[in-house]
Amino acid sequence: LANVKRYLCGDHDDPETVGRPKGRRELQALRDEVPDPNHRPAYHFTPPANWINDPNGLVQWNGRYHLFYQYNPAGPYHGTIHWGHAVSDDLVTWEDEPIALSPEPDGPDADGCFSGCFVDDDGGPTVLYTGSAGQSQLPCLARADNPALTEWTKADENPLLDGAPESVDVFETINWTAEFRDHSVWRTGGTWYQLIGSGIDEEGGAAFLYRSDDLVDWEYCNPILTGDWRKTGPIWECPELLQFENGSILHVSDYTNVWYFSGEYDEEANRFDPDDRGLLDHGVFYAPQSFEDESGRTLMFGWLKEDRDETSQWDAGWSGAISLPREISLTPDGQPRITPADELTQLRGTHHSVSDLTVEPGDSGVLDGIEGDMLELKVTFDAATAGEFGLVLRATPDSEEQTVVRCKSWKRELEIDRSRSSSSDAASDTPEVMPINLDDGSLTLHLFVDRSVVEVFANDAQCLSTRIYPTRDDSEGLDLYASDRRVTVESLDVWEIEP
Ligand code: FRU
Repeated sequence: LANVKRYLCGDHDDPETVGRPKGRRELQALRDEVPDPNHRPAYHFTPPANWINDPNGLVQWNGRYHLFYQYNPAGPYHGTIHWGHAVSDDLVTWEDEPIALSPEPDGPDADGCFSGCFVDDDGGPTVLYTGSAGQSQLPCLARADNPALTEWTKADENPLLDGAPESVDVFETINWTAEFRDHSVWRTGGTWYQLIGSGIDEEGGAAFLYRSDDLVDWEYCNPILTGDWRKTGPIWECPELLQFENGSILHVSDYTNVWYFSGEYDEEANRFDPDDRGLLDHGVFYAPQSFEDESGRTLMFGWLKEDRDETSQWDAGWSGAISLPREISLTPDGQPRITPADELTQLRGTHHSVSDLTVEPGDSGVLDGIEGDMLELKVTFDAATAGEFGLVLRATPDSEEQTVVRCKSWKRELEIDRSRSSSSDAASDTPEVMPINLDDGSLTLHLFVDRSVVEVFANDAQCLSTRIYPTRDDSEGLDLYASDRRVTVESLDVWEIEP
């Protein structure tokens, strides 16, 4: 095992001894070394082995989807970060490509290639990312040398800026001279605009707006938006502006939450004017990034953090997953509408369906015969007269292990109760909670279970992603329950997923 670990992980952060995987075959070999069959998702993207965090550089280029990602090839922990790379023709099946960007000793990215975005520079595939070196975090640029986007040349001009804007009192920490990272870029007329995540001392998170004519020389404009640190945190990471025909969404990640602000972006004043704010997901979904694909949809992926201790991540040999692709738009009343991308239906295998089912308090075994650890479920409850009801997932026959998705209709709240999800102490057992809208009397939950990942979409509006780590091979049961009053299930569809 020690040898496997050395092969997989090298000697921690020493670039000489890190067996940096180069080709597809080597990456596949890494995947095969760390199967972790009870927990490793089968239809969510996970790293070949070792560590993944944010999705980066998302694009559909010449028809193919590209997912770059924050990757530490040295081990399943956040260390010297590279850009990993995977491609897909259908958004659901991913193939590994060699590492796209690696830190350059003595370069402005010597300690890591942090998060950034893809830019189509009039047909020239380009990425902007954060180079981390010593105590600085500065924007860097690289251009692709081939249409497959597997070879990249970093710009001679890197880093593109000397530091954070001098006119603002930017948040500093012991580690960094300025919290100043992550890039998203768009073009209006002939001008490029860029957002960089940061924070203003004693004020709160900030997204700084820059402009440029050539992607290389950037001029600071102003913060497009700032927050109150007491409400939305002192630092914002991964800011992104999504412009739709009926308004805009600006989202930022504050270490714990992903906040969206919906409203208008004033192009004259270069400021975002929010009408509303909320969370894009109420669970472990973090640092999302979006792109518009060739069909004109805005698709979003996020990082699904682990929720088990570091030792078990180390033992598993991998850490982190990328969410399913989500389509995001703005409803006429200015709320984000979030749905799983249609392509996911390609994964559907055996189908079970039930309609007009009444579940009485005390009923159990309602769905006997339907089970699995890779499932898609779509269920509509008549919530108008119901009390507490829900679903039980990944349950053992003796109920020693089980995860309960509980709707408390009087509280307009959905809870994922993980108190019995795993009999291991390494896994978090705290409940995950989100508000739900029951105004029209019904609740439609669209759920995806993929071993340790559960993603829930409620009424195409609220999302909750969480992690569960059942230990037993027979943690595969599914059930419906009602606690105090009967509940009517208008329809239930379950698909066994065939990745
Ligand atoms: C968000 C983040 C980014 C940073 C990257 C480093 O999870 O901290 O701000 O660029 O991850 O891996």
